[in-house]
Parts: sequence; C-alpha cells; structure tokens
Amino acid sequence: EKIRAFRATLLDWYDEAGRADLPWRENQDPYRVWVSEIMLQQTQVQTVIPYFNRFMTMFPTLNDLAAAPEQDLLKAWEGLGYYSRVRNMQKAAIQVRDDYSGVWPDTMAELENLTGIGPYTAAAIASISFKEPVPAIDGNAFRVFARLFKIDADIAQPKTRKVFFDLGLQLIDPDRPGDFNQAIMDLGSSYMSAKNYDSEHSPVKQFNAAYADGTEDFYPVKSKAPKPK
Ligand code: ADE
Repeated sequence: EKIRAFRATLLDWYDEAGRADLPWRENQDPYRVWVSEIMLQQTQVQTVIPYFNRFMTMFPTLNDLAAAPEQDLLKAWEGLGYYSRVRNMQKAAIQVRDDYSGVWPDTMAELENLTGIGPYTAAAIASISFKEPVPAIDGNAFRVFARLFKIDADIAQPKTRKVFFDLGLQLIDPDRPGDFNQAIMDLGSSYMSAKNYDSEHSPVKQFNAAYADGTEDFYPVKSKAPKPK
C-alpha cells in the first residue's frame, strides 16, 4: 500500500540521484560511518569531506584512534570546532577496543552506551552498518516527516523525538534501512531543505500532505524557547 509505495519511490530516487560519491558511503564499515556522522553533526557536508579523508589517513582504524596522542587528535579536528566531539570519540574507541574486544556492538541500544553516541548516531550506525531497521532522527528527519505527514508535535520538546522515531519505525524499509535513512538525509538537504525547499519537484511530492494543502511553512512545528526573565 502507501508505505510500500513511499519506500520504493524514495529509494529509486536515492539510487538515481543520491550522493553515492560521498567518501563515507564507499562501504558500510562502522568505524567510517561513525566518524562521518560525528563530523556531520555540527558541520556541513562539503566542509566535512576533506576532514573525513584526512582523518582516515591519520587514523585508519579504531585502534589507531584509541592509541593516538591527544595533540594528533586536536590537530585532525582543527577548524571543525566542538573539540569535545573528538575527545569523546577517543573514549568510545577505547571502550570498543577494551570492553568489546575491538568488535563494534551491532544494535542501536548497545551503541548508545558508548561515549558521545546518542540516539541519532546509534541509529545511523546500526542501520547503515548492521541493517537494523531503526530511523535516524535528526533535523532532516524532523523536517521531512513533519511535512509529509503534517505532524503537529513541537520539535522543541524532548518527548517529541519519540513521536518521530515511532513514525520512522513504521516507514523505514526493512531491507534497506541504511539507504532509507540516508535518502531522508539527502531529501532533507535538497528538495526539502529548511529555507529553499522545492516540493514542486521533489521525488516524493505525491506523498507530501503539507505541500498538498499549502501548509509547508508551518512544519516542522517548533516553539520558541521562553524568554529568560
Ligand atoms: N548528514 C548526516 N549524516 C549524513 C550522511 N550519512 N550523509 C549525508 N549527510 C548527512
């Protein structure tokens, strides 16, 4: 029915027009997926690409990262900012090396126990590297799902994440969960971006409830933080 048609349409578009050339999409190695997702949290794709390639040259494996001197880490991260990200990455690398004998845990639930890995990153790694059908809910997913299904829940409220996660669980393609999540990311940064969106030409136009009635500007619903007194 409709969900199946949505998945097929989305994945067909991803296969044709998705950014398959991104270096972290070369393979599904969890180490590479993890590094890319951490870098992409606060930094744009085009900026991340050279940093990612350099990082992989400096620290080709999890063990290299776990054993690296701090000054090398900070050097690799220079210009990306939020240095706690790379410090936490080293802690997580040590956890995987020492607590999991160097073998990545393969479920979202276990991945969330590692330092610096929250629900979004855990879902991205679990779905892309281990085919677990869990949705990766970031700003892209909030925006895309909210518009397609006219979700009124306030994304500024922490409890709203569950609304989108549960919806994503229904939607995600069980055979290609990682591609599904990355297709939502690509859609969210192209036809369904925050500002210059172009739903008229979007591959999933026919599934976009907010586009159908001209209410896209209202989604996602996000309340302002209350003013400090
Ligand atoms: N933004 C966050 N994760 C991403 C990914 N895997 N590919 C492209 N953009 C992203």
